[in-house]
Amino acid sequence: MKRIFTVIGLAVSLAAASFAMASTAAKNNAEAKSLYERLGGKKAITAVVDEFVGNVAGDNRINSFFKRAAGDPKRLAAFKAKLVDQICQASGGPCKYKGLDMKAAHKGMGISDADFTALVEDLVKALDKFNVGATEKNELLGALGGMKGDIVGQ
Ligand code: HEM
Repeated sequence: MKRIFTVIGLAVSLAAASFAMASTAAKNNAEAKSLYERLGGKKAITAVVDEFVGNVAGDNRINSFFKRAAGDPKRLAAFKAKLVDQICQASGGPCKYKGLDMKAAHKGMGISDADFTALVEDLVKALDKFNVGATEKNELLGALGGMKGDIVGQ
């Protein structure tokens, strides 16, 4: 009889433990935040893009690509707004990117691997300036890195 109670006791505590684990997992899921939220939302993304475009403008390796945008404040503002929407959307935010797809946007520019790397370095500098965490930085760079094939070498 004592043995039966021990077995029942064990089964009850196992059930309780797995219930506790399941509810912790559910809680963690509910608390999981999108990359957009972890980056700090649209305001933080806009600040990073401003800094990033400033870095590109000062980067002699690639700034010649951006002569037209740099020389026209309206064009520059439109370019920045598109970058913000693109990053916002790609990170799970509520924005809708309405610009050209990456293939069409960079067609005929002759962007090399080295140009792409230089631009990513300028972005990393901007992310570092705003102390964006390593996890968020890697997630964002991973998403943008996936676009490389449409941007480079055409
Ligand atoms: C992941 C990397 C990149 C992303 C996400 C990106 C994103 C964009 C976006 C959203 C646009 C605006 C498209 C439109 O007008 O509808 C654009 C335009 C442009 N991109 Fe990129 N781009 C990337 C890499 C590069 C690189 C490596 C270069 C050259 C070094 C470059 C040069 C340009 C230029 C010159 C324009 C046109 C700017 C203007 O005059 O309005 N991009 N890009």
